[in-house]
Amino acid sequence: MGQKKLIKFAAIKAYENVLEYPQGMPGKWDAFFQELAKGTINISLADLAVSQPTKPLVLELACGRGEYAVGLGRLFANQNFIGLDIKGNRIWKGASIANRDGLKNVAFVRTQIDQVTQYFAKEEVNEIWITFPDPQLRLSKAKRRLTHPKFLRLYQQFLTPGGIVHLKTDSPNLFLFTKTVIELYGLSLITATDNLYSSEFMQSDNWEDRYAIKTYYEGLNIASSNRIHYIQFKLDKELPIELEEKLKEIIAEFEITETHDSLARNGKQAME
Ligand SMILES: C[S@@+](CC[C@H](N)C(=O)[O-])C[C@H]1O[C@@H](n2cnc3c(N)ncnc32)[C@H](O)[C@@H]1O
Repeated sequence: MGQKKLIKFAAIKAYENVLEYPQGMPGKWDAFFQELAKGTINISLADLAVSQPTKPLVLELACGRGEYAVGLGRLFANQNFIGLDIKGNRIWKGASIANRDGLKNVAFVRTQIDQVTQYFAKEEVNEIWITFPDPQLRLSKAKRRLTHPKFLRLYQQFLTPGGIVHLKTDSPNLFLFTKTVIELYGLSLITATDNLYSSEFMQSDNWEDRYAIKTYYEGLNIASSNRIHYIQFKLDKELPIELEEKLKEIIAEFEITETHDSLARNGKQAME
């Protein structure tokens, strides 16, 4: 491992706003953010009280450098934000910026998204942002897509009833897949556009600055689509397992229009 990565890994271990695989956190995030705001050093997670949230909690999944967690933290001082990713060197960037700028409502969790239910209590999270996740284009990997019902069922375990999920992606295929999931399971679609910055949505009264926060991967345009796709929907229905066969059949018919896959993304990752 490179020297720079080692330095970043060591740095985040000392940061109050980064928790690596934290144990016993469900129900404690409100108390944690109160300690962070007070400037407490070495916050003892075990001693935090489980309490009803006093502020909305928003989660950014696959946050990378955490542009959304940090950007939203700046825009909404009365909400708390957590960026979650497995890569410590990326989290370091967002956590360092939050520390530098005194954003006490922004924190990061280093862990696997597959383990996400371990960290939040029922109804503890109000919204989820999924920002430029790997589209996992191969059909055999469809279950790894972060908007696959398998993941949506995990999110339902801690999202408030009818809580909102936002997906931003450059991948037309992931966009189509997600719209298909929403339709098949009868979830409430709030907004979907395959060209966010030239959309009617952008011209509408519903537009807010938060939709235009730019992430590192947004700038890379790996899918070569030159379009930012955005979907906002509610996780407001049960997601029966039996429908997964139907979903498999539908998506097997999709034409994959992108030339890139995980390899391209990993290639870019290697250059960082
Ligand atoms: C393409 S990058 C996007 C990063 C950032 N959201 C952006 O837009 O710049 C995808 C991110 O997902 C993270 N990731 C992929 N699979 C993951 C998993 N199972 N658990 C946690 N993070 C994961 C990677 O570490 C990577 O930072």
